[in-house]
Amino acid sequence: MEQASTADRDTPRYVGVANEIAAQIASGQLAVGERVPSVRALARQKRLSPTTALAALRHLEQRGEIEARPQSGYYVRQRPQLLPSLDMSRTAKRPRAVAVNSLFARLVNDVASPELIPLGSAVPEHDWYPARLLQRALASATRRRPQWLSEYGYYFGVDSLRHEIARLYAGLGCTVDADEVLITNGCMEALNLALRAVARPGDVIAVESPTFFGFLQIIESLGMKALEIATHPRDGLSIDALRQVLENSETPVRALLVAANVGNPLGTTIPPERRRELLRLCARHRVVIVEDDVYGDLHFAASRPPPLRALDPDAQVLLCASFSKTLAPGMRIGWVIGGAMTESLRLAKFVNSVATPAALQQAVADVLKRRTHARHLQGLRRACQQQIGRFSELIEQGFPAGTRLSRPQGGFVLWLELPACIDVLELHERALLDNISFAPGPLFSSSGRYRNALRLNCGRELTPPVIKALRRLGQLAGR
Ligand SMILES: Cc1ncc(COP(=O)(O)O)c(C=O)c1O
Repeated sequence: MEQASTADRDTPRYVGVANEIAAQIASGQLAVGERVPSVRALARQKRLSPTTALAALRHLEQRGEIEARPQSGYYVRQRPQLLPSLDMSRTAKRPRAVAVNSLFARLVNDVASPELIPLGSAVPEHDWYPARLLQRALASATRRRPQWLSEYGYYFGVDSLRHEIARLYAGLGCTVDADEVLITNGCMEALNLALRAVARPGDVIAVESPTFFGFLQIIESLGMKALEIATHPRDGLSIDALRQVLENSETPVRALLVAANVGNPLGTTIPPERRRELLRLCARHRVVIVEDDVYGDLHFAASRPPPLRALDPDAQVLLCASFSKTLAPGMRIGWVIGGAMTESLRLAKFVNSVATPAALQQAVADVLKRRTHARHLQGLRRACQQQIGRFSELIEQGFPAGTRLSRPQGGFVLWLELPACIDVLELHERALLDNISFAPGPLFSSSGRYRNALRLNCGRELTPPVIKALRRLGQLAGR
């Protein structure tokens, strides 16, 4: 796989070799208790100096993948007991005006330093994505049609990209008309347009709890209210809890903003057998579903769960997504598929940003047409799963007793609930002094919850400084 390869020019050779061995361990090729090649054997096999081979083995030992046995060599380690899983969260008593933007702005300022090890933002290593392939596709697109740079054009999206997106959904059993696909500047713009199309200031939007802070930021900036619904740590939004709210609440809920596949921050996925029930419930109570499927391709299941929209013959679900997690965060190519709302979404898109750069859209369309895309996604999912395993293990070893950990169904973030006495905003201040940042729990709530929780980005290469930062964070949390 060109892009999810962990061997990159910027990665030290010993880390690359350690990653190769770690991949053999993750795939079971090297079993627990099995001896890994000695320094001499490894140096010979990989054409390394003995010093580099030893550094690779020491690095694996530090990551907790292997252990040294005196006079005998290195062996694959037994994975330790997993930390307890999370509990189901609770439904909020009432809808609330949201106020996370000021906390977000403060944290963004705090984490601007280049020395910082950012463990919070959900952005993986750049070598997970095929930058060179995209660069070539962009050069070729602008050579073929330079006008893409000198005109607005294609207000609703370049045709070939809209067809590629419709084709990808068709492969998931989700019928989408290419004309319905409106290209946006990332999923954030798609979500903004979708919420604006279906709700007004003051309306109540139901969300999972915890939920992606970007959802809350949009709700806040549009003057709407959020209602946090109980969320199961594996199965996502509790449909029973939502039913209770819809049947008993005096305040009508206008829309549900939900990620059915691989939610952020918990990595939850709503089980297939509950999805029709959710759609029926929302239809009965006239609640519009705005679905975020940005992480759907990064699932860990045997097959890619389709979006909710696949079960929605009347196209009542507004489906939003982007290529930011799977292909090119920097290209900002997202979309909203709006069914009956298509016309009003188009108008809102024009008012908001006129268009999305056509040359970038064409480059992405050309990359999607290649057969390598499916392989790329496969490699990306494998990388996510390995990284989640490695980070979980380091957290297991280094965080205080009483810490609870998510078991994501996909993606590359982990959610930790620390013992209740820990205030993560205060912990964040202390971590910053050691040049470490993370995403504090209160960002993920409209009601100031999760003061003892945090989200970590596991898409980072476990280089020695990152391992050190993670261990240090565990120590700080334990004080
Ligand atoms: C659930 C979810 N939706 C949307 C986004 C934003 O996507 P984009 O970068 O395409 O705007 C993110 C980014 O972290 C996300 O986690």
